[in-house]
Amino acid sequence: MNAHKPSGLDILVTGGAGFIGSNVVDFLLNDNRVTVVDNLRNVDERFIRKFMGNRNFKFLKVDITDREAIASIPGHDLVVHLAANSDVRGGSEDPVTDFRINSEGTVNILEYMRKRGVPRIMFASSSTVYGEAKTIPTPETYGPYLPISTYGASKMAAEGFISAYSHYYGLTGLIFRFANIVGTNSTHGVIFDFINKLKKNHSELEILGDGTQRKSYLHVNDCVGAMFHVNAISKQTDIYNLGNTSMTSVRRIAEYVTTGLKLGNVNFRFAGGIDGRGWKGDVKVAQLGIEKLSAAGWKNRYSSDEAVEVAVTEAISQIGAL
Ligand SMILES: NC(=O)c1ccc[n+]([C@@H]2O[C@H](COP(=O)([O-])OP(=O)(O)OC[C@H]3O[C@@H](n4cnc5c(N)ncnc54)[C@H](O)[C@@H]3O)[C@@H](O)[C@H]2O)c1
Repeated sequence: MNAHKPSGLDILVTGGAGFIGSNVVDFLLNDNRVTVVDNLRNVDERFIRKFMGNRNFKFLKVDITDREAIASIPGHDLVVHLAANSDVRGGSEDPVTDFRINSEGTVNILEYMRKRGVPRIMFASSSTVYGEAKTIPTPETYGPYLPISTYGASKMAAEGFISAYSHYYGLTGLIFRFANIVGTNSTHGVIFDFINKLKKNHSELEILGDGTQRKSYLHVNDCVGAMFHVNAISKQTDIYNLGNTSMTSVRRIAEYVTTGLKLGNVNFRFAGGIDGRGWKGDVKVAQLGIEKLSAAGWKNRYSSDEAVEVAVTEAISQIGAL
């Protein structure tokens, strides 16, 4: 990883018990003191257990929607804000949760930063803010933003508050719009779903949508490396897409998973859905333009297909073979 790792800092990682968060902690620990804030809503302690007992690590079981509890946390040098309702699919049934955790929760973190004089936030936003973009690959300058999920809308609102707080109070915010992130410790997403379905039924795999949905996948090591590479060189509030220059179809992912599980004749059953989408609010083709990231000097290790292939192997070794 050719990232510029910070050192000697007190860093608060919200959502640090989760998939990307636990990889961030792994990357930062020992060169820095890391405090994780997580209410363990989406995942238990399994990914942070190995850090417990490390004198540079602290875990606070706090909900970011609890403004008073967040305000009582001591100051830090940097916040990496990853806590969120990451269930994009559930939004159409429960839109308010997206707002409360992703938008209002972010405002609570910003209020904490303002009151404690924390100077910088790195924020996990998403490609979903662009909605159904007409320009693909989609650059950071694309507009207007018309998200088609409440998850995307809640991330868009959070971005706006980070921008406004940085204007009002002089803190800086790096907003990262992630593509689909895959790799070690993932507990959701298409690879995870396929493996779990195939564990129950070895001969048939239900695929949401028509299988032609194509998205760009980024390995979590490349995601974390890119975040801190940009952090080292970008001093102002700014937005970066983090993604890949290629895309992988859902059908191709199904093939990687069945091959990884050494399953021969699996019947792919396509659930169809509206316009072949996986669910209401699913974007059918998503690829972020990453020229700005490349111009900043970052190069991913894995292409989209490679990231999926590596992540399938990692997921099988974590979730267990059949
Ligand atoms: N994984 C992806 O492909 C992807 C893509 C785009 C953006 N993101 C964003 O990246 C971030 C990390 O995603 P992830 O994939 O690691 O998801 P994750 O669900 O594994 O991690 C999120 C963490 O936040 C915690 N959390 C949720 N609600 C909380 C609350 N109210 N208070 C405190 N903690 C809370 C969860 O327990 C979990 O540990 C999220 O903000 C997500 O929206 C992820």
